[in-house]
Amino acid sequence: MSTVSPLDSAELRILRDAIQRRRTFAIISHPDAGKTTLTEKLLLYAGAVETAGAVRPKKNRGHATSDWMQMEQSRGISITSTVLQFEHEGRLLNLLDTPGHQDFSEDTYRTLTAADSAVMVLDAAKGIEPQTRKLFEVCRLRHIPILTFINKMDQPSRDPLELLDEIERILDIAPCPMNWPVGDGPQFQGVVDFASRRLIRYSRAGGGQVRASSFELSMDDPSFPAEVGEDRAQHLVDAVALLEAASAPFDAERFLAGRQTPVFFGSALNNFGVDVFLHALGHLAPGPRPRHGSAGPVDPANPEFSAYVFKIQGNMDPSHRDSMAILRICSGRFERDMLVHHPRLGRKIRMTRLHRLFARDRETVDEAFAGDVVGVVNPGVFVIGDTLSSTPDIEYARMPSFQPEHFGVLRATDISKSKQFRKGVEQLADEGVVQVYHAVDGVRREPILGAVGRLQFDVVESRLAQEYGVSARVDSLPYVCARWPVATPEQLAGVRWPISGFSLVRDRDDRLVGLFASKWELQLVIRDHPEVLFSETSEPA
Ligand code: G4P
Repeated sequence: MSTVSPLDSAELRILRDAIQRRRTFAIISHPDAGKTTLTEKLLLYAGAVETAGAVRPKKNRGHATSDWMQMEQSRGISITSTVLQFEHEGRLLNLLDTPGHQDFSEDTYRTLTAADSAVMVLDAAKGIEPQTRKLFEVCRLRHIPILTFINKMDQPSRDPLELLDEIERILDIAPCPMNWPVGDGPQFQGVVDFASRRLIRYSRAGGGQVRASSFELSMDDPSFPAEVGEDRAQHLVDAVALLEAASAPFDAERFLAGRQTPVFFGSALNNFGVDVFLHALGHLAPGPRPRHGSAGPVDPANPEFSAYVFKIQGNMDPSHRDSMAILRICSGRFERDMLVHHPRLGRKIRMTRLHRLFARDRETVDEAFAGDVVGVVNPGVFVIGDTLSSTPDIEYARMPSFQPEHFGVLRATDISKSKQFRKGVEQLADEGVVQVYHAVDGVRREPILGAVGRLQFDVVESRLAQEYGVSARVDSLPYVCARWPVATPEQLAGVRWPISGFSLVRDRDDRLVGLFASKWELQLVIRDHPEVLFSETSEPA
């Protein structure tokens, strides 16, 4: 049944090597901790972009590579995740950018399913912030190994020991310092690398350039910079000895199991410690990990190609106005014109063109390997969670859709554009921007929207206007939760729904959904109808 011809041992070796070279990771942080700046600097150090500022506009300024939607630019927040691929020291890094705003947890969750590791960026003055914690929990649920970068050391910072303690206490993961900051604020000079026992000192070389020099951590070394100060140097030698004695050494196994996080200090904005971090990232972050398929774990080096769609992105290129499905390749190798199974549709599809994505830019690729994140033009055949595979034996679980907490009715204010309106709503629903329902009685024709965060409604209004030329507005509805009742038609007919503050609607797959204006009413219905399962997601467990 497979469409992949058996590989000989040389081909298998090439496949394995290509896969082992890949590192697919996401950066998580609370807004403003410096995720975008670090992303930009990683690309800069890897030579993937030439100038700082090429990656994004700084709040309303210039053109962006990673924040390319107009709305993102005007708000200065990252709304959609982008994928950036670059090479460094022989490794191929796929960086998945995740939105930091708390309203976008569903999109972020989906993106994190595609990552093999994560970088957690903390602000050295603030430590663990609420959104860091939420995102960390998602990583923990998925057992994703995490590297920590403590940023903004060039500003007055909290005591590094206190920051490590906070990581341990709040996140319940063992921090393992890999380097140690020398000074903070204007006195921040560099870091001491524990493994080599060397001081890596940074100095500004003008024109935004930074020079790094490295010294053995010994005052007997005549080249040891006098400016560090004898007191501080002695303090460093003592501190390193103390830290080494006090903290558990880096343990790759614990790191990979998500129980220990290697910690690095630096300043992304000033390029201090970024080179060291990038080097460590390439070495420590794991390659593609096996994924759970319906018949058990799928080894990335399995010669059968398999992938799943974790994101649908419409209108990436205003001149094309097309929709793109973004895939994480989980096993094997993709080849151009490959015929793959599409289990949800029960048919085969020819994959004519895959695109390598660099934010808004895309480039056609003839081959891609497990670990890669690539885009494929979506002529309406892919939805989030779809599996594509060269064998019918591999299928990945569908992704749960999250419990919406905000509801509204979407009204077109210009009825002459009903076709564009419908098209736009369909596209945004395909992308998972919002969930879309219709009233069962058919009286109200306007779509009802459900979202995890309220800001999604602004996204809908803005994208309908910008991408479809449709003016529409979302009027809030009083519902607070949704449930998908699972039962026989007779049982459903017997359910006594609340008389007011309730709506029975259908989702896009024609499943019934109850929208409740109070959790208390919901509890009463659940209590009165033990024969019905009221599922919190569209996918009953
Ligand atoms: P985010 O993606 O996590 O939201 O953070 P982002 O990189 O946008 O950084 C948030 C702010 O913090 C930006 O300042 C950025 O310049 C600043 N920043 C990032 N890294 C460092 C660092 O190492 N040291 C210092 N001192 N600041 C840092 P902004 O004022 O919001 O924007 P802009 O005026 O700098 O463009």
